[in-house]
Amino acid sequence: MPTTVIDLDDLDLFVSGDPYAAWTWLRENAPVYWNATSGGGGYWALTRYEDVVEVYRDPSSYSSRNGTVLGGSYRSATDTASGQMLICSDPPEHRLLRQHVHKAFGAPMMERAGGFVRRYLGAALDRLVADGGGDFAVDIAPLLPAGLLAAMFGIGRDDAMRLLGLTRTMIGYRDGEYVGANTSSMALVAAQVEIFDLLADLLDRRRQEPGDDLVSMLVAARTNGRALNESQILYNALNVAVGGNETTPFTASAIVETLIGDPGQESRLHADPGLLGTAVDELFRWTSTNAYVCRTTTRDVTIRGVPIPAGETLTLWNASANRDAEAFPHADRLDLGRTPNHHVAFGVANHRCVGMSAARLEITLLMEELLARGLRFRLAGPVERLASNFMLGIKHLPVELA
Ligand code: HEM
Repeated sequence: MPTTVIDLDDLDLFVSGDPYAAWTWLRENAPVYWNATSGGGGYWALTRYEDVVEVYRDPSSYSSRNGTVLGGSYRSATDTASGQMLICSDPPEHRLLRQHVHKAFGAPMMERAGGFVRRYLGAALDRLVADGGGDFAVDIAPLLPAGLLAAMFGIGRDDAMRLLGLTRTMIGYRDGEYVGANTSSMALVAAQVEIFDLLADLLDRRRQEPGDDLVSMLVAARTNGRALNESQILYNALNVAVGGNETTPFTASAIVETLIGDPGQESRLHADPGLLGTAVDELFRWTSTNAYVCRTTTRDVTIRGVPIPAGETLTLWNASANRDAEAFPHADRLDLGRTPNHHVAFGVANHRCVGMSAARLEITLLMEELLARGLRFRLAGPVERLASNFMLGIKHLPVELA
């Protein structure tokens, strides 16, 4: 038994502690764990690969309607996003919404996005090289989603950066650096209101002058002749913006930190860029930026002999499942040539990340640009992490050229 009780709600564990050690203990000793919270409630935490995958695959017993982030946005059962926004809907609504959102990630859009990302990223990397280093998390990583957003929303770089700042407040609403003097819940609400205003304005413009961007596609979407209503359009545009803005930049910074810490694997990739395909997947497994997602039980269930009543919150820890030795040989070792690699960094089954192709594109472009320039880094200062147990984020990553 550990000498202290593991608390997955303790943000210090994620800022300055070692959540991987906590997950290893949980996988081995308490794979179906009741994590009590300070308010008197709590949630169940599943940390083994097999259990996490099984729950993902059974949306009728484990619902997404109450949202997928603990205490964050869209957790209330009465929230209007429930059933309207992809990530917090269940079949059959989910399938209908998903087919419309999925269309926006087609080949022409990805090609356009790739062009923007490469341009923004190339210029930023050239500046970093000229300066001899910088803060990778601030100077480079945000350019990945900025390029994607510019293409998907048909907006300019400045608007893309503004949207990025707002979604960052939503995800980092428990971190003082992102919310300033506001209390966390005020900051969350204020950011949501501002994003909705921005998206509503975009929706008005696209209704008058349709383009080939995501919002125009959602306006034109029809199911049996019926259009999406205004809140469905706004919520799903928001879902793409939030889903895409935080995960990839934090993943990019985590990858750079990982490679700095494992120069052997980094040299292997530089010596053989043909490894890039398997390397990108292994880096997604290793970094697992989206640490967990939530589900709510719709009926009484039993997992590994533990009875769980209907209406309880379950957290599925992707980051832990991806280090489960029963699913991955030498799970605690980074192996850029790993294959097969059935990681769950993007989730599994019907809700599996609809932006996965975009994330792959962004991270592949980043790695290509680093390899093409022969760029390797050294740490030039302390790494600062986001106060969040949901997003394994790096806020500051000072680097110099190695
Ligand atoms: C490394 C990058 C990324 C990671 C680790 C990641 C992770 C995830 C995970 C774990 C889910 C499943 C949620 C669940 O089952 O409840 C998900 C869903 C989703 N992601 Fe991502 N994501 C990434 C990038 C992106 C990007 C680039 C976009 C959009 C541009 C995006 C948009 C979405 C959306 C809209 C959903 C909801 C899908 C659904 O419910 O059907 N994500 N993502």
